[in-house]
Amino acid sequence: MNPIKHVAIIMDGNGRWGINRGKSRNFGHKAGIKTVEKIIKESLKKKIRYLTLYAFSTENWKRPKNEINYLFSLLDSFLSSKIEELNNEKIRLFIIGKKKFNKKLIRLLNFSEKLTSSNKRMQINLALNYGSKSEIINTVNYLKIKKLKINEKNITKNLYTQNIPDPDILIRTGNRKRLSNFLLWQLAYSEIFFEKKLWPDFNEKDYNKILSMFKKTKRNFGKI
Ligand code: IPE
Ligand code: IPE
Ligand code: MG
Repeated sequence: MNPIKHVAIIMDGNGRWGINRGKSRNFGHKAGIKTVEKIIKESLKKKIRYLTLYAFSTENWKRPKNEINYLFSLLDSFLSSKIEELNNEKIRLFIIGKKKFNKKLIRLLNFSEKLTSSNKRMQINLALNYGSKSEIINTVNYLKIKKLKINEKNITKNLYTQNIPDPDILIRTGNRKRLSNFLLWQLAYSEIFFEKKLWPDFNEKDYNKILSMFKKTKRNFGKI
């Protein structure tokens, strides 16, 4: 049985979920928050140490302004209302991605990270304005400036994910089979699960099915 230390999720399909219900894409984003809460709770139950959630990519800035604004207002209200609860549950919040947002949001993100920084039960890595290619490029440039060797060890420990073990599992909901610039380096040996359901429809049962499939998978890492 494989142990599960780290699960990464591309939470895709909110927009289509809203449209399918004759509502807006933003309606789907709002519904997606409930799934986030379910999956956090279930991950705690399953004692998963790291949960990485892709919430906004560097490419998502190409979306209409009204959708972008709505996504960030959802993030603001989620954190403002839940960060105390996350802290009480001994969950650490850690942002991966470039914190290029308005001052108010940056303050809230910094506050949330600081408040929860010593929590060790579970770590949620929230990928915000995250892009894997720029993460790798920035890391290599940093190593060059510092005159450090460009090798696997130095790249790994200078990415946003630093000393976090690589994901054991990547889940992408929303019936699309692509990585969309997510954790390209870190996913080198992860088991990948593409889920047909749209993110707001994804539930604990679907999640547990994937976790048990993973546990039975033979991982080779190049060996036999
Ligand atoms: C959520 O799903 C992902 C985010 C960028 C927040 P989408 O908004 O991409 O939904 P679909 O894929 O268009 O249905
Ligand atoms: C990936 O979903 C980004 C997030 C889930 C935050 P997208 O919906 O942006 O991916 P593409 O554009 O369909 O590849
Ligand atoms: Mg999408």
